[in-house]
Amino acid sequence: MDKYVRTTIVTGGASGIGRAICKQLAEKNVYVIITDISAQQGEELASEIISQGGQARFIFMNVTDANEVQSVIHEVFEEFGRLDYVFNNAGISMYGEFYHMGLEDWNKIVNINLWGVIYGTRAAYSIMKKQGFGHIVNTASVAGLGPTPMVTAYATTKHAIVGFTTSLHYEAETYGIKVTTICPGHVDTAIYDNGHAINLDKNKINRSVKQRKMMSAETFAAYALKRIEKNVPLICPLPFRKTMDVFFQLFPNAHRKMMRMVCRVIRETQLD
Ligand SMILES: NC(=O)c1ccc[n+]([C@@H]2O[C@H](COP(=O)([O-])OP(=O)(O)OC[C@H]3O[C@@H](n4cnc5c(N)ncnc54)[C@H](O)[C@@H]3O)[C@@H](O)[C@H]2O)c1
Repeated sequence: MDKYVRTTIVTGGASGIGRAICKQLAEKNVYVIITDISAQQGEELASEIISQGGQARFIFMNVTDANEVQSVIHEVFEEFGRLDYVFNNAGISMYGEFYHMGLEDWNKIVNINLWGVIYGTRAAYSIMKKQGFGHIVNTASVAGLGPTPMVTAYATTKHAIVGFTTSLHYEAETYGIKVTTICPGHVDTAIYDNGHAINLDKNKINRSVKQRKMMSAETFAAYALKRIEKNVPLICPLPFRKTMDVFFQLFPNAHRKMMRMVCRVIRETQLD
């Protein structure tokens, strides 16, 4: 393998935002390792990238398996001799009122959304520390930037990713490692249809979510990649970030009204 070819690993790379990131990095001549638990979609994406002149490969990797994450990332490094980017992007969504959620629900989402990001970061960090460069990009959400009722487990994982990743951004600097968190808002992907809804009518929720204007995964990926190149610690497309901050901090009453409305709209989809 040509040691000058930049290499990236993208978790949850077979669909949505991860897929768009893989395609756009391949267009920038980065060798893309697409990892996911969805093998068919991942293989198809690798073939598509190759047919368009890019370099890609699919590797099955479940982000909840710390050993698997460790060995895949190390094997890729051994083979390519360098690791330029790791995107810890795999994630699931979960609507639900807190008192309806069991510990198995919490474990499921924390294992994928949070432990998956920590496992990926740990494995990449030790390699990047040795090689003296590299960029780790962890996907959080606007739900990690402010209160997000009725998706408390999801918001918990995303707040944790923001705290973890923005803190590590400064700690990592001394080793030449760049660390960024990206916070998408409403991006049109399969996460809504595939997401979990505990004791709620998912189709009803999705109908109301999809009434709002959504960004395409391609637009979001292009927005994020441009800022990742500049090593911005936290990337969130406007107006979401500003809207959140302005409402939460400057207009607490307006914010409370908005949060009550969110609770009401989602409670209307309750199944029993
Ligand atoms: N779409 C949005 O509006 C939005 C908003 C905020 C944050 N996000 C975040 O963006 C990231 C990507 O989501 P997306 O919208 O592209 O969704 P998506 O459903 O299109 O893609 C998620 C991918 O993750 C994979 N995945 C799920 N569990 C996995 C596991 N255990 N191991 C490996 N892969 C696994 C899925 O197979 C899928 O290919 C997620 O972390 C999500 O929370 C999305």
